[in-house]
Amino acid sequence: MKILLTAGPTREPIDSVRYLGNRSSGQMGAAIASNAIEEGHEVTLIAGPVSAVMPTVSKRIDVETSQEMRDAVIAEFAKHDLLIMAAAVADYRPARVHSLKLPRHESMTLELVATPDILAEVGQIKRPDQRTVGFSLELAGNIHRSREKLARKKLDLIVYNPTETMNSALVEAVLLYPDGREERADEMSKSDFAKLLLARSLELFSAK
Ligand code: CTP
Repeated sequence: MKILLTAGPTREPIDSVRYLGNRSSGQMGAAIASNAIEEGHEVTLIAGPVSAVMPTVSKRIDVETSQEMRDAVIAEFAKHDLLIMAAAVADYRPARVHSLKLPRHESMTLELVATPDILAEVGQIKRPDQRTVGFSLELAGNIHRSREKLARKKLDLIVYNPTETMNSALVEAVLLYPDGREERADEMSKSDFAKLLLARSLELFSAK
């Protein structure tokens, strides 16, 4: 299988030295990549500025902003069977980027605009022989938001991740499918979870 995988955060520049970011380390992406390589798949990794050590993959594209990640995904997607979007893409970016370092003032207001929704765009160009998998980090009890994203982004599988487990070594997740099926993954290591997710992602190809 040719797997396209995104991992890590994005950084949205404010000026020449500052950016908006998030706490994603890229660990989940690293676990998925390691597992996929072990099982003999070809992996193209599109990585934001990750702090986790990533395994050596067939092809690695390093990006910084959500727009760069979007451009890389759109350029690569047609060449792959499966997209696993494990990256924590910023939802907003500053409306304008200052080319020089902004001086300090008593206060400042930053206008933000929405970033491109990469998975939603991929949903529009996806071929019947391709599969897409997303993640959704939600407050506990908000699993319905994951289900809504599964449908809106035309995904084949989405991982509901309660925010409460964010910095934990163990994963507490639920896998959700378009036909309403749900599978709980309780207290699994990231590596075991990556193995399960990859197995379920590959099963999507025999399911249709
Ligand atoms: N995602 C994406 N492009 C974005 C934001 C998110 O492709 N601009 C992907 C993520 O990589 C993830 C999935 O969409 O696999 C869900 O991400 P999430 O941030 O939960 O979804 P949003 O659509 O941004 O919803 P919200 O922020 O309202 O919860």
